[in-house]
Amino acid sequence: PQVCWLSPEQTAGKQKPYMYTQGQAVLNRSFFPCFDTPSVKFTYSATVKVPEGFTAVMSATSWEKQKDNTFVFKMSQPIPSYLIALVVGDIVSADVGPRSRVWAEPCLIEAAKKEYDGVIEEFLVVGEKLFGPYVWGRYDILFMPPSFPFGGMENPCLTFVTPCLLAGDRSLVDVIIHEISHSWFGNLVTNATWGEFWLNEGFTMYAQRRITTEVYGLPYTCLEAATGRALLRQHMDATGEDHPLNKLRVVIEPGFCLFLGVNPDDTYNETPYEKGYCFVSYLAHLVGNQSKFDAFLQAYVNRFKFQSITADDTLGFFLEYFPELKEKGVDSIPGFEFDRWLNTPGWPPYLPDLSPGQQLMRPADELAELWAADSLNMEAIEAVDITGWRTYQLVYFLDQVLQKSPLPEGNVKRLSKMYPKISKAQNAELRLRWCQIVLKNNLEAEYSKVKDFLHSQGKQKYTLPLYRAMWGGSEATRALAMETFSATAPQLHVNVQNYVKKILGLAG
Ligand code: BES
Ligand code: ZN
Repeated sequence: PQVCWLSPEQTAGKQKPYMYTQGQAVLNRSFFPCFDTPSVKFTYSATVKVPEGFTAVMSATSWEKQKDNTFVFKMSQPIPSYLIALVVGDIVSADVGPRSRVWAEPCLIEAAKKEYDGVIEEFLVVGEKLFGPYVWGRYDILFMPPSFPFGGMENPCLTFVTPCLLAGDRSLVDVIIHEISHSWFGNLVTNATWGEFWLNEGFTMYAQRRITTEVYGLPYTCLEAATGRALLRQHMDATGEDHPLNKLRVVIEPGFCLFLGVNPDDTYNETPYEKGYCFVSYLAHLVGNQSKFDAFLQAYVNRFKFQSITADDTLGFFLEYFPELKEKGVDSIPGFEFDRWLNTPGWPPYLPDLSPGQQLMRPADELAELWAADSLNMEAIEAVDITGWRTYQLVYFLDQVLQKSPLPEGNVKRLSKMYPKISKAQNAELRLRWCQIVLKNNLEAEYSKVKDFLHSQGKQKYTLPLYRAMWGGSEATRALAMETFSATAPQLHVNVQNYVKKILGLAG
């Protein structure tokens, strides 16, 4: 069942069926026989025969089309099972750089090319400068059908992404930079178990933000990191800081059969990403010099490339690489012990300084403050011109508004009218926040926007928070949840379907 078969209606073009696989974390065992653990790496080849009018693509270093619609793929570097991926559909490609092309259904290819033409190579070059050679040959991007459950998936040579990234203004390019960063952290140096998923995602968040610092500067990067910190805050508020998943090394009980053990996918949350990012930032802070830490990261990749490792390997290498820090006993500074980072749940003991983003965040903080007042100071509000704000500034602003919600009666309605750029946005990150605000403030007049958004795409990180908000709300929002789910369930990835069922109390 984890090989996803889509009917024509579930594609953008609505003409031909489509199939795709999603391996991470442990789904590929239902695709082909394998040691389905990230601790084992292997090369692969595959021969795929497809019907006339279809194209097959895989996460492979080389491919060729033979006669009879047969495609032959080879991955010449050893990779873990979860990185094998296949798509068959009516897809075409367009070059966007010397080693990059975009793939999409024909009706999306123009938009896909426009979104990323000429920008990918710079990210790869900066990544190579920081972390060492890019070993995968090509870096292509495949725009998936709207029900793809992730923002992006770092399948080697061929990242899969949600079509929501087609914002028209490159504003969601961080997702691409994130997946590119996995080319070193995750795909070259791999977590040996899913219990140490932060080694993949925490290092990747750090690498992503190193690249955006080089390309877009520190203020922008700090702003984006602040939106990440807000997600971690929301997650920890929802689960409680002491929840056992809120440590970096989580215990995933092995099972003996279908009914025992924990599915690693069920442990997915913000902690490995954003707490992991804080821990890597803390290591950099201990070193105290960015270029020395960059050199360490490059040495780390070189030391463990093509291997699967645990946090003990990572931290052991860190102390070996910086013997003076080892001598100082930096692994056991009270309150910041490496062991505490790994094994104790809770808010990160160290937070990187995001104040270089203040120039972008302060206006958003102040505006959110104004909108939260009991009686609105319209003069002050109208004096703030948001037309020039970047998408992440708006996202940050909306997160602040959400945090202060419910706002005093009538404020959100006025806010909606005042900023159609937000309330009528097509950008998925803005739509998610706006829908969350609509629900938290019981703005019934705009409930249809929640429904429309959930009909338009099936990304897990957009879908679950909205169903949680609807289910935790009024009678009306619960009805909205049920109605929306029964209409959209067949389009959702089976994992996402099951998580929504759990939220709605429908799980058998
Ligand atoms: N590897 C993840 C996606 C994933 C995680 C799939 C766990 C299955 C199980 C990917 O690199 C990722 O983190 N995607 C994020 C991007 C974001 C952090 C920029 C996403 O999809 O939101
Ligand atoms: Zn990732």
